[in-house]
Amino acid sequence: MIRNVEAILETIDLRDDAPADEPMRQYYFIKKARELVKAESEKLGRRLTADGETFGCQMNAKDSEKLIGILENIGFEMIEDESADLVFYNTCTVRDNANQRVYGRLGFVHNMKKKNPHKKIALCGCMMQEPSVIEKIQKSYRFVDLIFGTHNIYKFAELLVAMYSSDSMIIDIWKDTDKIVEDLPAERKYAFKSGVNIMYGCNNFCSYCIVPYVRGRERSRNPKDIIREIENLVSEGVVEVMLLGQNVNSYGKTLEEPMTFAQLLQEVEKIEGLERIRFMTSHPKDLSDDLIQVMKHSKKICRHLHLPLQAGSTRILEAMNRRYTKEQYLALAHKIRREIPDISLTTDIIVGFPGETAADVDETIEVVREVQYDNAFTFIYSKRTGTPAATMPNPTSEEEIKENFDRLLAVVHETAEQRSKLLLGETHRVLVEKCNGGSQLTGKLSCDKPVHFEGDACLIGKFVDVKLVEARGFYYMGKINMQEHRLRELLCKAKQNR
Ligand code: 5AD
Ligand code: SF4
Repeated sequence: MIRNVEAILETIDLRDDAPADEPMRQYYFIKKARELVKAESEKLGRRLTADGETFGCQMNAKDSEKLIGILENIGFEMIEDESADLVFYNTCTVRDNANQRVYGRLGFVHNMKKKNPHKKIALCGCMMQEPSVIEKIQKSYRFVDLIFGTHNIYKFAELLVAMYSSDSMIIDIWKDTDKIVEDLPAERKYAFKSGVNIMYGCNNFCSYCIVPYVRGRERSRNPKDIIREIENLVSEGVVEVMLLGQNVNSYGKTLEEPMTFAQLLQEVEKIEGLERIRFMTSHPKDLSDDLIQVMKHSKKICRHLHLPLQAGSTRILEAMNRRYTKEQYLALAHKIRREIPDISLTTDIIVGFPGETAADVDETIEVVREVQYDNAFTFIYSKRTGTPAATMPNPTSEEEIKENFDRLLAVVHETAEQRSKLLLGETHRVLVEKCNGGSQLTGKLSCDKPVHFEGDACLIGKFVDVKLVEARGFYYMGKINMQEHRLRELLCKAKQNR
């Protein structure tokens, strides 16, 4: 992670050609883009503004932080309003409704662009990796200025220079990459917690999923780079990290010196000052006994595991290419609960996969009852062109799928509510994340559930003990330990006055 961008930029002479090596090439273009943005600002008599709109998962949220980091270093003022001089949409394509939302936003900003001809619109992210999307934008959304994909976001500065130097739409999409560019500036949404990429791409090819096609082949970051990044984050005040990958359990397989995810976690655990470690997402087929043991004995890894089930029927799991059976999944979930009794388990489930019957969904419901998830994200199957499932016949009617979905959801709510009652009356350590106006704070338990309680906003980013007094399904209402609260408040105020 680069701390002193200015010192690097000073070494660059724009009269030279752009260097070929990364990341220096991008610093060259950051400097160049600064000049272009400055000239544009002077013409307008004000600072140029930019807005980033992010769709989809935590990976996209992390990518957006990188894009915003580059924009800020170029000189844009970031605002949260699509009236900005530059708007980027970091898109998701995991289900069709994500695509439809982007087209909806584009219609909306097009009207804004008609009133502000200087306005620039950039599109990036997973949806842009689909050739049919690019065709549609070229045909029906000619006003878009820049399109790039998931593999070249690090080139944002270079692409912006191309965009500001041209009147036509700039398109730069790579099919795949084996490149990982480190050490570019990035912005952080929160001061006290941060996502950290540990790997990119996915090799699993679940038959319904478009991710392997739009995020490319699996590649792991070097453990030294990951540790260095987290150490720097901690030195800047971060106390919680979320290690990010489509399938963190297969971390390290592609490294020159292979390393397992369990081993990586042990290295991260050693970082002094880091208090909490989370990770996302685990594939059940790759979850090792070593990982369970590392979690069990860790003081920092949160008591939460997101373990996507997708379906409870072995027949459907096979058609989904998930490579585990219902029985194997259940055995794994029981083993985890046995070894780490206070763990919270959450999952993803798809309803309406081609050929799924009400009897198959009964099996999913059986698994939900048996595992007792703390939360389950349930999705209706969305056909993604290019995936194997897209050509499978689906005789089940939409009404039946909706009925199955509602049946499942009712059980998910029921079990989540039962689980949440288990902690009632207990006092738990909470990381305070935000203030919801007035004096209501929201924090997260180790098990990832939110808790709302009265307190002072100066506690944001701090750990406090909170008693869970009311369970409301997926969240709690709590009461802070008053003695500790007063003490902390005094400390916060003293720091502010210093
Ligand atoms: N339709 C519906 N849900 C999907 N997911 C992935 N692909 C699809 C699809 N085609 C869900 C899976 C995954 C989550 C991120 O999104 O449950 O775990
Ligand atoms: Fe998609 Fe399966 Fe890879 Fe997850 S593991 S990103 S569901 S292909």
